[in-house]
Amino acid sequence: KKADATIIIIFGGTGDLAKRKLLPAFYNLFLEDWMPDKFAIIGLGRTPLDDEQYRERLHEGLVEFSRTKPDKSKWDSFKPAISYFISEINKEGSYKELAKKLDAQDAEWGTRANRLFYLSVSPQFIEAVTVNISKAGLASDAELDRIVIEKPFGHNKETAIELNNMLTQTFQEKQIYRIDHYLGKETVQNILAFRFANALFEPIWNRNYIDYVQLTVAEQVGVEERGDYYEGSGALRDMIQNHLLQVLCMIAMEPPVSFQAEEIRNRKVDVLRAIRRIKPEEVHQYAVRGQYADGWLEGKKVPAYRNEPDVNPRSNTETYVAIKFFLDNWRWQNVPFYLRTGKRMQEKTSSITIHFRPVPHSTFANSQSDSFMNNRLTIDIQPHMDIRLRFMAKKTGLEMDLNPAEMIFDYDKCSTQTPEAYETLLLDAMLGDATLFMRSDQVEEAWDVITPIQEVWENRESLDFANYAAGTWGPESAEALIAKEGHVWAVNL
Ligand code: BG6
Repeated sequence: KKADATIIIIFGGTGDLAKRKLLPAFYNLFLEDWMPDKFAIIGLGRTPLDDEQYRERLHEGLVEFSRTKPDKSKWDSFKPAISYFISEINKEGSYKELAKKLDAQDAEWGTRANRLFYLSVSPQFIEAVTVNISKAGLASDAELDRIVIEKPFGHNKETAIELNNMLTQTFQEKQIYRIDHYLGKETVQNILAFRFANALFEPIWNRNYIDYVQLTVAEQVGVEERGDYYEGSGALRDMIQNHLLQVLCMIAMEPPVSFQAEEIRNRKVDVLRAIRRIKPEEVHQYAVRGQYADGWLEGKKVPAYRNEPDVNPRSNTETYVAIKFFLDNWRWQNVPFYLRTGKRMQEKTSSITIHFRPVPHSTFANSQSDSFMNNRLTIDIQPHMDIRLRFMAKKTGLEMDLNPAEMIFDYDKCSTQTPEAYETLLLDAMLGDATLFMRSDQVEEAWDVITPIQEVWENRESLDFANYAAGTWGPESAEALIAKEGHVWAVNL
């Protein structure tokens, strides 16, 4: 299904996101015939550029970042839809001019097009943009007009509530698309299909059969050029509050009645509500933080976090977090959910591991058979994408020896190329499907979950940072966090 005529308006049109992610996503949607028959993309920025210069910039982005490299004739048919509009975020006049441009486009097409406002701007500008959109009457139609907002959605629970209140003065909740790109990832979306389109797994998807769950999102990159932003954020806000908690919701949610946006989002918010809030005095038992020292990654020496550009040389910002959560509900009582994420880890890998309980009685002499680690399901999110079920099997031979074996669903074996997360999400936003976007209550609950940790960490001064070398799996205390329960982080097995 394609959307009706749509005008996409990108605030921050000359920024990195537009070049790296948004335009490549629209271009690939265009190649695969998913763009509306009538569409226009307007990039907004202060830099004086003409349309041709702007297109040229975006073309460079396609060459570098698009999964399909631009082909001359396809680009030639795509690029007339792109234009550039010089504007000042804080000037009402700019929005009036923009209104004229949008109206002219509608007049040319003979229809009032959908308007998708994409706010790829720093958080401090969101208010100015929304207030001015409202004053100029740009998003006057609640059915046709939507805004897409990038994280961070606030800096803590209070500011998230303020932001949501401010947004809902101008837009209805159904017009607001809060993007979390992890939800657009193919492997993350597949969790819902895997769980709810098969009768096989759901009966064992609970505390009676599952011992514990792990989620690792490990990156090799450091903080790169984003020191300024990251210093005020840290891994807890940057990754746990959004991406990891959202993935946890997909793993832990109850079966939805339908695939409707509100239904899915209701089930997810139930999970966030069920997460046991950690008491301030217990934070040290449940959460571990780290910051990378210098080290070696793939044969190259890399600097410590404190020596990165725009980072305070005495910074206490965490670049690694591991947390143990419990969910207070019938399905998950007493099942630990371990989440960890870090920068400058040994490998780039994101995966979920569901560890099943050991067999109740060990029939075979072979000691491996009763190891609880041998019944597990791994969902590899990226870069390798697969689902692996590990079980015990007989070793071929005359003796009754056992070995762990795996059944693997490997995405590489599927013929089609995997779309990027932004393709899925932008298409959904154009179609008005909010299922994979975050509702305000999800965002606020997620902040509520991390608040105690955040507050304790902010107030405790003496830290032994840096406490892990770049190119390792993080601080030793993270191993200890889960070893207490006799558990181990999966990728280390
Ligand atoms: C972003 C974070 O939301 O996600 C970054 O701000 C992080 O710090 C990135 O690197 C990871 O996304 P992905 O898709 O590369 O796993």
